[in-house]
Amino acid sequence: MTTMESTPTTVPDDFDVARIVQNDRVHGSVYTSPEIFQREMDTIFRKGWVYVAHESEVSEPGDYLTRRIGHDPVVVVHGKDGKIRVLLNRCSHRANKLCNAEMGNANSFRCPYHGWTFSNDGSLTAVPMRNGYGEAFQKVRSELGMAEAPRVDSYGGFLFASLAADGISLQEHLGNATKAIDRLLNLSPTGTIDLRSNWMKHLHHANWKMVVENNVDGYHALFTHASVYDAIRPAKVSHIPSKVDVVVRDMGGGHSEIDYSAEYRKLDEEFVWYGRTPREKLPEYVAALEAAHGPEKTHDSLVVGPPHTLIWPNLFLAEMNIMYVEPIGPDETVAYTTAALFPGQDRMNERMLRRSEGAMGPAGFLIADDGEIGMRNQAGLAARDPEWLRLSRGLETDVKDETGIVNSDKSAETPQRGFYRQWASVVGQEI
Ligand code: FES
Ligand code: FE
Repeated sequence: MTTMESTPTTVPDDFDVARIVQNDRVHGSVYTSPEIFQREMDTIFRKGWVYVAHESEVSEPGDYLTRRIGHDPVVVVHGKDGKIRVLLNRCSHRANKLCNAEMGNANSFRCPYHGWTFSNDGSLTAVPMRNGYGEAFQKVRSELGMAEAPRVDSYGGFLFASLAADGISLQEHLGNATKAIDRLLNLSPTGTIDLRSNWMKHLHHANWKMVVENNVDGYHALFTHASVYDAIRPAKVSHIPSKVDVVVRDMGGGHSEIDYSAEYRKLDEEFVWYGRTPREKLPEYVAALEAAHGPEKTHDSLVVGPPHTLIWPNLFLAEMNIMYVEPIGPDETVAYTTAALFPGQDRMNERMLRRSEGAMGPAGFLIADDGEIGMRNQAGLAARDPEWLRLSRGLETDVKDETGIVNSDKSAETPQRGFYRQWASVVGQEI
């Protein structure tokens, strides 16, 4: 039983992040307080870089998607001028949400309220009954295009946007996390992936951080996913953390990962990450990869496999699945997942889709377990004692190297500590 401390359950005016996030623990209010949630929207999601879409989803002029950056609805659209923009999904007249479809292809967006029409580059092109604006019409029209995220950039096809005009570049934001994207793209003969097989949506009754930090938790799998291990036993790669060369890594900037590469290199066996499919079963794929990268690099890529990496704040490279999360409220989150497909590799893609459904689908064997755990975490937080959640596992065995802070015990809470170090530095800033 912990002693009750004078810690806040809501955010006071003199918000002091050190009172709710410390090196080895996080206060429960971080997951439950509406004020903290709002502060996250205003800082993490309005000031920093946030993953919004993949270029393959808007590859043709006119292609668009509706997404959210925190709570701000946006349209990611490939304009007729060839430029991909992230436009705020709000009519500049009286705020109606302009575009309701999840995706499509359109030259323009017409507001259903009073019929104002905007081109797919965001400019206002038509205003019904324009005489009502008198002499000022041209000025109104030129000033009232759709608002645009001031910064949009991409790496390896992953599109990120920032609603703030100033700040660090995307490259600086991603830091070491670019290596994880490279690791995924090394598996593609074209060096690109395709995320157009549509997204599975899971509503989690949990705070968005519960969903995200669980993705890089190397401690829970044996317990939360016990049924999976019962089904695949005996496996060559043990999932008992002390028996494997698997490290967890805080890559800095809130990015973190579980890295299986040392264990896989030790085994020196291809496709361990892919159910040990023999390369003879995927001849077109292996041949295309060898043609693109040569036999040596191909062998290494097939041994090492894809990343298991969280990219701050909302993107998770879940090996051959991609996940992003949308926070809805303090205790509600939508997680979107899809399979990463390789252009032109139909046979490989077919298998990836089936595997993705098996792991991440509504009747899948992984995400459903994690969803229930997240919900039970949130339910447990209603009890106010103890007030803090512990993140001290492996604290004394963390080692700093050029890749970040690394722990050779897969079950260490190193990724979570890195996540909350970043969280504190962003959420604690003046707004
Ligand atoms: Fe869109 Fe009036 S609110 S046209
Ligand atoms: Fe899990």
